[in-house]
Amino acid sequence: MNSSDPTSDSPSRKDVWKMFDRIAGRYDFLNRSLSLGQDIRWRKCMRRYVPSGRPVRIVDLATGTADQLLFLLDGKAEIQTADGYDLSEEMLEVGRKKIRQRGVEDRVKLHTGDAMASPAADASADVVTISFGIRNVMDVPTALRDMKRILVPGGVVCILECSVPQNSVVRRGYLLYFRHILPKLGGWVSGDGDAYRYLNKTVETFPCGEAFCEWMRDAGFEDVKAEPMTFGVATLYTGVRPMEEGA
Ligand SMILES: C[S@@+](CC[C@H](N)C(=O)[O-])C[C@H]1O[C@@H](n2cnc3c(N)ncnc32)[C@H](O)[C@@H]1O
Repeated sequence: MNSSDPTSDSPSRKDVWKMFDRIAGRYDFLNRSLSLGQDIRWRKCMRRYVPSGRPVRIVDLATGTADQLLFLLDGKAEIQTADGYDLSEEMLEVGRKKIRQRGVEDRVKLHTGDAMASPAADASADVVTISFGIRNVMDVPTALRDMKRILVPGGVVCILECSVPQNSVVRRGYLLYFRHILPKLGGWVSGDGDAYRYLNKTVETFPCGEAFCEWMRDAGFEDVKAEPMTFGVATLYTGVRPMEEGA
């Protein structure tokens, strides 16, 4: 790492998946309503990075209820296998139900697995994705290096994460919503106020934009890009595993 860890003063991420076990039943509804439906658009943006015209294998880390995988699958017939990993069994159970309802059990499988040391084999995926998950892991550089391990050389990593808008006027309005309205709404609907206070604290203390791109380059990705979405309240980061290791 070039810089000191900017997440060190943010809330503890130890066993954070247990919190997701508690809110799993309402997670999708809350995601959709608290993002005012925007998360659907953000998730669909990743489809651009799924190669066309050949069979593709996807690994989605911190997959939760498998929303990201299912949105990718919708627009991309090329996806041959899609494997999701998470530590929260309750989130995975909600995801498995959705997969059965959609009748895609043959292509989409969910497994228990840590994003910092995934059971996925070396060079087993053409695309590795993680949506709203990287902020939750205890050791981000380790997770980024593990994503590179899973990718084939030339494979693409797509990381979707909440971020803080750079424009000062937008940021003021956003922080008002994020600090004062979202934790209350999230707490009421989920019955777990801590979960949504955690969300707002981790987002505000997590590196975004160029600072996060630097972490990705340090992990060995090349062609790293950050694409802010909806005034920068979310950012899609992409990078490529070099064809030549050590390049
Ligand atoms: C905000 S949710 C995102 C879920 C899903 N990716 C989505 O887009 O809706 C964060 C997820 O990260 C999972 N998680 C937290 N720490 C993890 C870890 N170390 N390894 C794997 N999953 C983890 C949680 O259980 C939770 O399901």
